[in-house]
Amino acid sequence: MNAAPLGMFDSGVGGLTVMRAVMRRLPRESIIYFGDNARGPYGPREIPEIRRFALEIAAFLESLGGAVSVVACNSATSAALLDIQRNCSVPVLGVVEPGARGAVQATRNRRIGVIGTRATVRSRAYQKAIHALDAGAHVHSRACPTLVDFVERGEVRGPRVEEEVRRYLAPLKKRGVDTLVLGCTHYPLLREVIAREMGEGVRLISSDEEVAREVEENLVRRGYLKNSEEPPTYRFMCSGDPEQAVSLGRIFLGPEVERVEKVELPLGGWRPWS
Ligand code: DGL
Repeated sequence: MNAAPLGMFDSGVGGLTVMRAVMRRLPRESIIYFGDNARGPYGPREIPEIRRFALEIAAFLESLGGAVSVVACNSATSAALLDIQRNCSVPVLGVVEPGARGAVQATRNRRIGVIGTRATVRSRAYQKAIHALDAGAHVHSRACPTLVDFVERGEVRGPRVEEEVRRYLAPLKKRGVDTLVLGCTHYPLLREVIAREMGEGVRLISSDEEVAREVEENLVRRGYLKNSEEPPTYRFMCSGDPEQAVSLGRIFLGPEVERVEKVELPLGGWRPWS
């Protein structure tokens, strides 16, 4: 067993969907979560900039003593996972590889759709991860930049979001994908609308659940899983407005988000880029 908490981060509150899945699967694990809401969303930003932010946050979480870090953001995983792993002294997991594996295992016709932010799609991280597991799979990706805004406004159903989802998914349906990766932390909240639009024959792979499974396997194999009866602790931190983080955090995770501590930028920790 390892008493240290898991460290998780995202560009804002989106990664809380991943944290929620981890909490459900591993109810004894303590977690420190950091949301970079002063600089998020990352999706529209350039990859080197996202990489710089992600490295800074990973160093900060490591300095707080996290046992394993989870990059709970598709854009940050796509831009920076390998660099973070090279610089961190603890194991670091991302959200792309678990989602890719879930899709490769689920598809029957080997036609996989991927939706995500512009940064994630531009990085081709999902293509690479899927092709590392099945070089013959056909991957069709689509950036859906406005969906993050819909979710953050709390508009997760209704005609406007349905119309937008239809517009984004039409080309993927045309390609005959039988599996669709929800490659963005916000999309699990749109699962119903997306599932209805894709139709019954299409499996949706949600990275939050795949990542929770991956985290569990890592903790079990390393012998880190908590076996004490002590209740877990959850600590939430952000770089921007803590009030906004609490109200959105409750939508993404639930009532456990009672208080969010604001941490001033730049964060402490090692400086791999200097
Ligand atoms: N968390 C981001 C992701 O999963 C979505 C929000 C953003 O653009 O930063 O890609």
